[in-house]
Amino acid sequence: MINFSRRLFAVILSAFMIYCLTACQNSGGGTNASDVGASVQSGGGNILIAYFTAAENSGVDAVASASYTTIEGQAVGRLRAVADMIHDNVGGDLFSIRTSVVYPTDGRELIDYAATEQDENARPKLISHIENPDSYDIIFIGYPNWWADLPMAVYSFFDEYDFSSKTIIPFNVHNGSRFSRTIETIQELEPNATVIEDGFTVSERSVAGAAGDVAEWLGGLGF
Ligand SMILES: Cc1cc2nc3c(=O)[nH]c(=O)nc-3n(C[C@H](O)[C@H](O)[C@H](O)COP(=O)(O)O)c2cc1C
Repeated sequence: MINFSRRLFAVILSAFMIYCLTACQNSGGGTNASDVGASVQSGGGNILIAYFTAAENSGVDAVASASYTTIEGQAVGRLRAVADMIHDNVGGDLFSIRTSVVYPTDGRELIDYAATEQDENARPKLISHIENPDSYDIIFIGYPNWWADLPMAVYSFFDEYDFSSKTIIPFNVHNGSRFSRTIETIQELEPNATVIEDGFTVSERSVAGAAGDVAEWLGGLGF
């Protein structure tokens, strides 16, 4: 039954991804700096840019992993690439969410592994920890869309920290599904934080050229 549901979901997801990719191409580039009028009071606030990517949790070099993009001739993890673009604009501290899980480098194996993690509602053990979480007012959180959800490691991350009264700003990389419901999920996981709905989402194919859209999005948020 679970297998059938997953297969049915995969078919629906594929159709949706094709639809989304077409829509993204039509709107030029697949990035999103939506026009929701949210504004972040960034004056004086310490900024953390946290991100999770399989690329930094698979134990392989950049060249062997599919999770990388090429920026100025260098192989960079896709989520890390967007995190760097945000950092170039707002400063702050970068934080890679690392787990004790060594994720498969083979794409098909990773897809299955992540599906099992989700089915089991797993909480991968984190091996990186924020030194002084209270010192941050603004938390950017970056993650890939995995099975229309947050990777389970990001659930572990929100389990570990209470971001009450802080501002959380999501960004993600996807292959057609954009954020799915992940922004609402983050708000559910951190009910006393302000979660900015106008997150930044970019197709995995458009990461390398996303710097301008990232800057525009941040400008729209008031940075
Ligand atoms: C396990 C897994 C599940 C995925 N599920 C989705 C999905 O549901 N929707 C989507 O648009 N993209 C999906 N993707 C594509 C990823 O969001 C995209 O490739 C992203 O760039 C992966 O991040 P990474 O480059 O850090 O590995 C999935 C990728 C993986 C590996």
